[in-house]
Amino acid sequence: MPPLRLGINIDHVATVRNARGGDNPDPVRAACMAEAAGADGITAHLREDRRHIRDADMEAIRHAIGIPLNFEMAATEEMARIATETRPHAVCLVPERREERTTEGGLEVAGDANRLTGYIAPLAEFARVSLFVAADPRQIEASARVGAAVVELHTGAYADAVAEGAHDAAAAELERLTAAAAQAHGLGLEVHAGHGLTYDNVAPIAAIPEVVELNIGHFLMGEAMFVGLPAAIAEMRRLMDLARGAA
Ligand code: PXP
Repeated sequence: MPPLRLGINIDHVATVRNARGGDNPDPVRAACMAEAAGADGITAHLREDRRHIRDADMEAIRHAIGIPLNFEMAATEEMARIATETRPHAVCLVPERREERTTEGGLEVAGDANRLTGYIAPLAEFARVSLFVAADPRQIEASARVGAAVVELHTGAYADAVAEGAHDAAAAELERLTAAAAQAHGLGLEVHAGHGLTYDNVAPIAAIPEVVELNIGHFLMGEAMFVGLPAAIAEMRRLMDLARGAA
């Protein structure tokens, strides 16, 4: 089985900073600390409303870290311009709605295939382009067609089902994610997964053989308040490796 990378999403360090204005806590410092603690990559989402990460953060993180930066963004002209200037290792396209609390669903790739094909091509010249999609065969198939290199499978519905103790629903979501990972891999796409992952629900996702990267943010940042970021990352890594080894 290929090794499983851990990407750390540092958005919510900026959420806490922005709650009071000023410079603390600094998401760049968090990115560097995550790198020192063994993260394989840093993910940051520059939202249209700049509710957490800001333009200057993205630029500073890009220059501060020695590991890949995954620039998460909506497929807009403004973001294409900023990503082109920033030159991250990867660009992850996500749906964005102003009212949402977080990225609630997967990207509509099948219904927007023509536009996305043209949107992705120039980005693919310098970045690995990833599409954040639901575990839906139509969206996976379309992702390969529009020229993405990677799909990131949205694990939010699975995570919610586990949190609610809805065992049958969690098992059904896991089955869909497992099938989607196999389908994507078969189409030549690299497979990532993320959203809502915690110590309690990460193992079955880490055990999906085609998944080679997990991107985790909110839970780890909350945990870091209690045990520190390096310890939180180390524990997540331990659980991922354990599940990978056992699979
Ligand atoms: N991957 C993508 C594409 C996301 O949009 C998010 C949330 O910003 C994550 C991973 C991380 O999710 P969480 O913060 O729930 O761990």
